[in-house]
Amino acid sequence: DKANYRHFMAKEIHEQPEVVGHTLARYVNMATDQVALPAELPFDFSKIGRVSITACGTASYAGFVAKYWFERFARLPVEIDVASEFRYREAPLRKGDLAIFISQSGETADTLAALRYAKAQGLHTISVVNVTTSTIARESETVLPTLAGPEIGVASTKAFTCQLMVLAAIAIAAGKARGELSDEDETKLVQALVEVPRLMSAALALEPQIEKLARDIAKSRDVLYLGRGTSYPLALEGALKLKEISYIHAEGYAAGELKHGPIALIDETMPVVVIAPYDRVFEKTVSNMQEVAARGGRIVLMTDAHGAREATVESLETIVLPDMPATVTPLVYAVPVQLLAYHTAVIMGTDVDQPRNLAKSVTVE
Ligand code: F6R
Repeated sequence: DKANYRHFMAKEIHEQPEVVGHTLARYVNMATDQVALPAELPFDFSKIGRVSITACGTASYAGFVAKYWFERFARLPVEIDVASEFRYREAPLRKGDLAIFISQSGETADTLAALRYAKAQGLHTISVVNVTTSTIARESETVLPTLAGPEIGVASTKAFTCQLMVLAAIAIAAGKARGELSDEDETKLVQALVEVPRLMSAALALEPQIEKLARDIAKSRDVLYLGRGTSYPLALEGALKLKEISYIHAEGYAAGELKHGPIALIDETMPVVVIAPYDRVFEKTVSNMQEVAARGGRIVLMTDAHGAREATVESLETIVLPDMPATVTPLVYAVPVQLLAYHTAVIMGTDVDQPRNLAKSVTVE
């Protein structure tokens, strides 16, 4: 049931501190600040040459964030692909490498087909699934569950952040096994993950400000989302969330791609949501924001106090999140991104939990 919420989606957004905390507790040892995966992996990460990550929609964006983590923590090359492409492009795969499949439902037809293809090629397979009785869970070598609980709203919210938590734990485990992370590095990263539920609660407290902003967004025909680094997949997720429930056209772009085309769209009517925690690419994103501002674009900046101080551009609205380690920004910034889509859709009067033309589980290709 919806408890006291108007929609399942609202309930599921608000459940995130709790369910991400449950997921965390299953993947780390809180007493020692070490990663402790709930299943023994039947391979050694130091023998893996390449990881291929496959999923659809929001789950694929979780995989896209994880690519940055695997490459940084474990120096392991990652290919990320949407399942409908992966299954037909006959990717050359090396026997003994690793393929990871991410799915809330565990029944997505294209993801399942991709899993079967990877298995047939002799790869180790891990599925990150929410429904542990699902076909994808049953058919994969190792199942690493998300503990999001049932997700009823068609738009994925809590499953996404729980997927990120599981993937972060796997990436840290890989970094340890490959000797790329020291014990100290691991402790620091795990301590950052432990902060996530509290940080998410702080992000949820920004809801009144975001609800007000949504009135403005609801008047737009198009919205652009920009980000760099792990905020780039989050920009893609923000655009997907907004378009699927509010039916407002939205696109996500790597901020650095702005001048390669989408900048032509910018005018006074176009909100541009910039996801930019104060991190090592922040300054680069600021220069993209300046390009938007110079053309009259209306900037919605999601950042932290340091970023808000350093951003030398006029914004329509600045949403200030707490300071946090760079690793966990995709999990926490997901919250304002989801809330903005949700409140915009509520104002538009759409069927938030059951958007037109969409199904919760896509069992046909
Ligand atoms: C978007 C959304 C979809 C799903 C996609 C994959 O909010 O929910 O994009 O993420 O259909 O579904 P699963 O994770 O069940 O494989």
